[in-house]
Amino acid sequence: MDGELIPKAADILRKAKRVAVLTGAGISAESGVPTFRGKDGLWRQFRAEDLASPEAFARDPKLVWEWYDWRRGLIAGCAPNPGHNTLAKWEKVIPDFILITQNVDGLHPLAGTTNLLELHGNIWKVRCANEGTVLDNRDVPLREIPPRCPDCGALLRPHIVWFGEMLDQAVVGRAVAASATCEVMLVVGTSAIVHPAASLPLYAAEAGAAIIEINPYPTPLTPHADVSLRGPAGEILPLIDREF
Ligand code: OAD
Repeated sequence: MDGELIPKAADILRKAKRVAVLTGAGISAESGVPTFRGKDGLWRQFRAEDLASPEAFARDPKLVWEWYDWRRGLIAGCAPNPGHNTLAKWEKVIPDFILITQNVDGLHPLAGTTNLLELHGNIWKVRCANEGTVLDNRDVPLREIPPRCPDCGALLRPHIVWFGEMLDQAVVGRAVAASATCEVMLVVGTSAIVHPAASLPLYAAEAGAAIIEINPYPTPLTPHADVSLRGPAGEILPLIDREF
């Protein structure tokens, strides 16, 4: 990597008052959470797309919950890494800082980030498939699979946005507004192919924001990035912080 890029990214960030960050599964990779499209993204023979859908849940709720139970067990053993921690630290020093994540693992709040939009939900929340009530549930493993609503006995489902489902429009609205008004958008560890999240940096770029991307590999966003840092987030973010 060009040695000048880290100071350049640090300089852009230092001068900015309004910073929006978009993260994806890559920021949690160094914590041990498998990415969706990486080599460890499969469970049994299934791809995420085969399990994270209302159709899959209607067909076989037990199978879908077994997958989530496995993922919850895995995530429960993971801790935030220096990438999460650096972003939590920057929230305290950058005047207007918002973190938009596609991750459902809850590692950003665990690192201390509070101004957070979880676009795809949170794996530690469940929702009554009948009444829509949202509950916290941190049982690892789950007491019963599939779990049932303590109030009405209907099936509980993960409080996660599945393929083919609408995102919470209030959350999307806040994410779009933050993207369209930030001075810098930092995009970390996302393949930048799942919309609407992948559109957010494009809104930011259109509105004149500087785009900084951190990813070991190029993505469809790379041609739009002002600074493209190739490497793991857990190493690059602390390096930027040293120059901050
Ligand atoms: P992906 O698995 O599609 O992409 C992860 C990205 O992280 C890839 O571009 C990797 O190159 C990059 N990466 C891997 N290790 C990294 C590291 N150590 N540091 C930085 N980057 C690294 O995950 P997402 O982009 O998050 O949706 O996927 C978007 C959505 O698709 C997910 O939220 C999920 C999925 O299906 C739902 O669950 C609704």
